[in-house]
Amino acid sequence: MGIWRGKVPLSIITIIILAFVALLYTERLGPLSSKAIFRIKPCARKSADDKLVDVNGLNYAADYLFDFDPDQCSLNHGKWVFNRSIEPLYSDRSCRFLDRQVACVKNGRQDSDYRYWEWQPDDCRLPRFDPRMMLRKLKGKRLMFVGDSLQREQWQSFVCLVNSVIPKGKKSMKRGRLHSVFRAKEYDATIEFYWAPFLIESNTDIHILADPKQRIVKVDSIAKHAKYWLKVDILVFNTYVWWMSGLKTKTLWGSFANGAEGYEELETHVSYTLGLRTWANWVDSNVNPSKTRVFFTTMSPAHHKPADWGNENGTKCFNETRPITNKRHWGSGSDKRMMSVVAGVVGRMKVPVTVINITQLSEYRIDGHTSIHTELGGKVLTEEQKADPYHFADCIHWCLPGVPDTWNQILYTHLML
Ligand SMILES: *[C@@H]1O[C@H](CO)[C@@H](O)[C@H](O)[C@H]1NC(C)=O
Ligand SMILES: *[C@@H]1O[C@H](CO)[C@@H](O)[C@H](O)[C@H]1NC(C)=O
Ligand SMILES: *[C@@H]1O[C@H](CO)[C@@H](O)[C@H](O)[C@H]1NC(C)=O
Ligand SMILES: *[C@@H]1O[C@H](CO)[C@@H](O)[C@H](O)[C@H]1NC(C)=O
Repeated sequence: MGIWRGKVPLSIITIIILAFVALLYTERLGPLSSKAIFRIKPCARKSADDKLVDVNGLNYAADYLFDFDPDQCSLNHGKWVFNRSIEPLYSDRSCRFLDRQVACVKNGRQDSDYRYWEWQPDDCRLPRFDPRMMLRKLKGKRLMFVGDSLQREQWQSFVCLVNSVIPKGKKSMKRGRLHSVFRAKEYDATIEFYWAPFLIESNTDIHILADPKQRIVKVDSIAKHAKYWLKVDILVFNTYVWWMSGLKTKTLWGSFANGAEGYEELETHVSYTLGLRTWANWVDSNVNPSKTRVFFTTMSPAHHKPADWGNENGTKCFNETRPITNKRHWGSGSDKRMMSVVAGVVGRMKVPVTVINITQLSEYRIDGHTSIHTELGGKVLTEEQKADPYHFADCIHWCLPGVPDTWNQILYTHLML
């Protein structure tokens, strides 16, 4: 065990930790024994007619009249299909709300195939994201994404997807360090982002500590962040990548006289369980499920090991231009144990949480990352940096438009139910 300078005797700590390990053990069994807890949601059946229906003078494909059957379709099993005639709803030129970090075309990405892949679930069709339908559904509501930089991408993708149909002057954007708000005025709707990379509090939330060894998470503290989540109609959470430093997680709970010194180093999945349980308790005691919908986006895979997809001579995700087609592919960047923690915690909540399970479908998309078409410290990579993908390629974040648009297509499908 790591440094412990708190006042609690070690034996109690050991008991607490053992209790949590026991808890983990039962949680991992949980998902196997209960199918219902995941609330697997279906999507429109493939056989649905493509009739057009008239909604306020506009034609919509009949797949908006979803014909759902939970036993027929899981959105996270399927394949990517190339379709050159797809027209992305935005580009990094048409949507000025994209961070330069993920605006790959602006940053020099030349190949464009990565924008033309559609996710095709095995047993049904994923409805296209219709921005007008979405905005109508959000009328008078607040939608908030909460989490890390990948969640911020999902938020920006969502903003850009609806932005195309909102005229100039009918929208506003206020960016803040922690909380950002996009407003669609005619719809009295907001699409917000709140930065909380661990969901629970940590010493690296606002002033980011570059050295993971200095980071300490406070697994039982969430109120500072969560007060911003009250009265939101649709909450979409995530947290994963910040836990994955490869080190044990310096974890603090309870209140100790000697403050940050009283941490314990825990295995990451143990600390993650404690943090997620705090989040789950907050949701269960503060969210009224008849007013608020809660979603959780699963881990977004990083692609740092080309050997995972049989490209022994590759350098991370650099120069990849096609998705993986092997259906059984699962890379080393997605930790199954962390996934089972999410499943276990969410499965035991009182408030129903819909899991947007993006991991498998994103695992295939080694071609979708920003790679060298990104910025570092606010500056687009220089030619020298671009020539050194081993050190500078970003294989965690995604180009936009790109893969997170599909995450939002899934969110959209659930919201339109
Ligand atoms: C490709 O996209 C176009 C335009 O959205 C669509 O009409 C067509 O059905 C798609 N093709 C396939 C094979 O899905
Ligand atoms: C990797 O590079 C080595 C040496 O250049 C070559 O012999 C080998 O065939 C390459 N492997 C693949 C999978 O391309
Ligand atoms: C990257 O791909 C391009 C096009 O396939 C190729 O010309 C180039 O040599 C590749 N670069 C590296 C460093 O492998
Ligand atoms: C997400 O899907 C994967 C399979 O693609 C599954 O193993 C995992 O348990 C799912 N996660 C959750 C939290 O439901």
